[in-house]
Amino acid sequence: MALPELIIRPRRLRKTATIRSMVRETSLSVSDLIYPVFVDESIDAPVPVASMPGVSRIPLHDVGSIAREAHGLGIPGIILFGIPKHKDAVGSSGWATDGIVQRAIREAKDACPDLCVIADTCFCEYTDHGHCGVLDGHEVLNDATLVNLQREAVSYAEAGVDMVAPSGMMDGMIAAIRSALDEAGFHDLPIMSYAVKYASAYFGPFRDAADSTPAFGDRASYQMDPANRREAIREALLDVAEGADMLMVKPALAYMDIIREVRNETRLPLAVYNVSGEYAMIKAAAANGWIDERRVVMETMLSFKRAGADLILTYHALDVARWLTQTHQ
Ligand code: PBG
Ligand code: ZN
Repeated sequence: MALPELIIRPRRLRKTATIRSMVRETSLSVSDLIYPVFVDESIDAPVPVASMPGVSRIPLHDVGSIAREAHGLGIPGIILFGIPKHKDAVGSSGWATDGIVQRAIREAKDACPDLCVIADTCFCEYTDHGHCGVLDGHEVLNDATLVNLQREAVSYAEAGVDMVAPSGMMDGMIAAIRSALDEAGFHDLPIMSYAVKYASAYFGPFRDAADSTPAFGDRASYQMDPANRREAIREALLDVAEGADMLMVKPALAYMDIIREVRNETRLPLAVYNVSGEYAMIKAAAANGWIDERRVVMETMLSFKRAGADLILTYHALDVARWLTQTHQ
């Protein structure tokens, strides 16, 4: 049987490692990473999160060393989540001057002035009902929550945070926080918006870590329906118009099409959140010897970049930073 006269041969450019490196389209760098940190006001020693092997809640006095460790590995930023001792109906610990996140911000900045310290800005860890805002019966009130988000953001700013990251999917949250920060004199403080956040089952392990499982119902009246793509663009464009400095898509792995779409439709830096459930799946499979953890993690990170991400919030950040350094040696 004769072969065709002309065979187009893409394999020519895959022949050697050197050529492959010359035509590689996407790269992953340690400066793409943001490391999430859970700070618990009620503990004195780290408490491992069962569903997230390798992740612990840490006490306040360990924040400095974690900040230094991340920074020492070349990771440019951490994002803080606080678990307060005191929870109430409105989440008032969120804007307390001596709140756990406010104190953690100061610890991290003292230990590591160059590290970009970001604060997740929401209420689900602070409310006794676990929802992301103020309730009226079983309804999360949008505008009453905005007022509290303004207080919370200004309070983090006063503590010295480098960036606030509102994650509650309240309508108008970016405009509200922007105007409050500006009014308080923090014109230069950027907002990274969780602009496109889905009501996702992939958040399960995080809610153990952050003690933020809703006491009733779910978050479907404020987080997005996983079925929707056009709405993601609408949410992203609204946050651009309201003054966001960066956008985020969350979760990441099951939403690669959304990452690409937001990248194509907007001009702001784009972060993606490789969430707790995505992390837990890889860790569980690796612990069983079913996948090669390092290779799967690196491929996943690179794929986020290829999909259009500039920054990746990930619990794998310390490992990835170490692996990247080893490869370059
Ligand atoms: C709080 C918040 C959540 C996550 C980040 N910020 C949980 C939620 O919305 O229930 C999830 C992070 C993860 O799963 O890793 N609004
Ligand atoms: Zn929340």
